[in-house]
Amino acid sequence: MAWGVGVVGYGQQGRWHAGHLGRQEPDFRLVGIYDPTEACRARAQTDWAGSPVTIYAELDRFLADPAIELVLIATPTTSHAPLTISALEAGKHVVCEKPMAMNADEGYAMLQAATRAGRVFSVFQNRRWDGYFLQAKSAVESGYLGRIMELGFVEHSFAPGSLTYGVSAFRSQWRAERAYGGGMLYDWGGHRVDQLLLLHRAPVERVYCQLVNGHWLQEQDADNGFHIEITFTDSVVAHVEMNTVSLAGVRTAWYVSGTEGGYLQGKLLHRVRGRIFTTDWPEPNGVEGFWPNLVRVLRQEPGAVQGVPPEESVRVMRVIDAAFQSHEQGQVVRFDSPV
Ligand SMILES: NC(=O)c1ccc[n+]([C@@H]2O[C@H](COP(=O)([O-])OP(=O)(O)OC[C@H]3O[C@@H](n4cnc5c(N)ncnc54)[C@H](O)[C@@H]3O)[C@@H](O)[C@H]2O)c1
Repeated sequence: MAWGVGVVGYGQQGRWHAGHLGRQEPDFRLVGIYDPTEACRARAQTDWAGSPVTIYAELDRFLADPAIELVLIATPTTSHAPLTISALEAGKHVVCEKPMAMNADEGYAMLQAATRAGRVFSVFQNRRWDGYFLQAKSAVESGYLGRIMELGFVEHSFAPGSLTYGVSAFRSQWRAERAYGGGMLYDWGGHRVDQLLLLHRAPVERVYCQLVNGHWLQEQDADNGFHIEITFTDSVVAHVEMNTVSLAGVRTAWYVSGTEGGYLQGKLLHRVRGRIFTTDWPEPNGVEGFWPNLVRVLRQEPGAVQGVPPEESVRVMRVIDAAFQSHEQGQVVRFDSPV
């Protein structure tokens, strides 16, 4: 029997999730949608006319629907923690969009709520499954690079639409506003820091960050880019830099420098007896996706391990918290106990 899904927030991403889970993942069926914005509910009514999907205007009624077993939360960052905790307390399993929350304290409270409720909880860190990332990760894990010294990701793109991407019926520019948990450190940082912590598994010792705000929109008080330096306890240094309103057009994706080799954009440079060889490094095949993995976890299949354990998302939030603090104080933030 397919798992009954309820989607909270029928904006750009919630609509995408509803369509994907409702029509393309056979182990799930869409049964409910909750959105407080009338125009978003109207769009859901049109999209799902003739389907057995109930559209709710009140959260309590949505959470009381026994057919909803898994709640997918796709709302602005500020509401992730309260909605997740309410859904878990109502006995639902929960997948929440990234970034997990406004900060690590909220993230930890979500994790504790899941433990108390005995329900599965995960953050939709879908960029763990991006081909370019899996490629870089398998190059690091191959051992050909020797001891890793540094790694990084730089992307300057001209995508001002990323600040006004939200559905117009709600508040299209919420990503430019701190009050909603906007800004690219939350948005793209939520993906890149997560990827980084999977590429290099050592504890994080310290973080330095500078946010970039090009004041692209008049009301913008959130960043449109960031530079983060992360130092791990084994002295490995990582640099992550993004700007979504830059015409410079620089993109290195993940690069990695090791004592025996380097990796950049699908090419592995390997040192053998003083000579350097370049090899095309393939994307790994057959990696289990987010949803098939979640199904095995929900079914409690023996040996099923969550693709995105919530503890790992709390760790991402701790690094993001430190990055915000570093920017505000203009100095390096060192963790009392490495993270
Ligand atoms: N994983 C990814 O690659 C990816 C991509 C895009 C967006 N996202 C994430 O999805 C989430 C939503 O982004 P979006 O672009 O769809 O935003 P959006 O503005 O298009 O949609 C937000 C929706 O949430 C609803 N909403 C607002 N406050 C609410 C509340 N308190 N309770 C219930 N519903 C509420 C709004 O009515 C709207 O329908 C964000 O967390 C964003 O970071 C993730």
